[in-house]
Amino acid sequence: MIASWLSKFTSPSKLKAIGIMGMNQRNISYIGRYNRRHLFPLVDNKLKTKQIAQAAGAAVPELIGVISEQHNVPFIHEMVKKWPGFVIKPAQGSGGKGILVITSHKNGLYKKPSGAEIPKSEVERHITNILAGLFSLGGKNDVALVENLIQFDNVFDGFSFEGVPDIRVIVFQGYPVMAMMRLSTAASDGKANLHQGAVGVGIDISNGKALRAVQFNLPAQQHPDTGRALHELRVPHWEELLRIAASAWEMTGLGYVGADLVLDKDKGPMVLELNARPGLAIQIANGCGLLPRLRHIEKKHASSAPASLEERVAYSLTHFKGTHTPSHPQNSPQINSQKNSQKNSQKNAVKKTKKK
Ligand SMILES: Nc1ncnc2c1ncn2[C@@H]1O[C@H](COP(=O)(O)OP(=O)(O)O)[C@@H](O)[C@H]1O
Ligand SMILES: [Mg+2]
Repeated sequence: MIASWLSKFTSPSKLKAIGIMGMNQRNISYIGRYNRRHLFPLVDNKLKTKQIAQAAGAAVPELIGVISEQHNVPFIHEMVKKWPGFVIKPAQGSGGKGILVITSHKNGLYKKPSGAEIPKSEVERHITNILAGLFSLGGKNDVALVENLIQFDNVFDGFSFEGVPDIRVIVFQGYPVMAMMRLSTAASDGKANLHQGAVGVGIDISNGKALRAVQFNLPAQQHPDTGRALHELRVPHWEELLRIAASAWEMTGLGYVGADLVLDKDKGPMVLELNARPGLAIQIANGCGLLPRLRHIEKKHASSAPASLEERVAYSLTHFKGTHTPSHPQNSPQINSQKNSQKNSQKNAVKKTKKK
């Protein structure tokens, strides 16, 4: 099935014809227009994002500690003593840069997902580099977050290699419009970021099933390390994941946002981070452009009352099937008054989800 997609997406003119959005258009027409600048700090710092996600009732990976001063760097070993696996990341990093994943440690040696071991000094050097801003937005000084290692759900066995897969959902005006699962590979070193070499699998918004897959922007049919057929991927808890993603609108007030979610073996769906400038490769992984969906939602917004979280998710589930986007939005009955709008559902958006 995936193979039949490939022939369609070979030339730039064809990509344009299916509504692929470019960088300038994203920056000007969507990020510039829908993301107010003063809200960026909520998502440009992973520590703040954790706080707002938790306040909204969403689960997040546990924070072991924060290192913000050079003289505290050697304390890392004491900090992680009782945590078998952990991740060190820059609070203001992106694209997987500067993330060190440690799966276990013993006698002063720290094991990476590949099995390679590094000494204490290398872990400390890594933190020093994070503090110096080597991996962070604008190269500014940063702090290092130390998080518990997520144990991902067994359903992804064979789909991800030596790393936690994550689910990226683009949420526009509170509507999930496109999704992709990112799978770690030997190349990506325990991180599920496309620029690090992860595989991106376009996911059908209507049912959580794989549509097509790419690695380094080239079509992929099997996981490069495990050989697992990628079209078999189906993400469980799909509606719940969409609800958490959609609630990023209430959490942040950002109109155009990329929500990164993970599925923990025991704790279920979690918010890993939120992005105010989500990348565009999700379109290649899906084999369809974002523009038709963004325009669809813009038209819908212009002609109907604000919708609740549940209504928005239900709308996306029924209108964004496969690579299809209906050209005219359907006006759902105006059940919700302004009361149900963004502001009021802020507090309990995710809590409501959890009871289900
Ligand atoms: N706590 C964690 N446990 C396991 N893997 C993690 C953890 N945090 C991040 N990762 C891995 O690193 C990737 C990137 O993490 P993320 O927090 O989204 O940072 P970035 O902004 O660099 O994308 C994730 O997709 C995941 O594969
Ligand atoms: Mg990310």
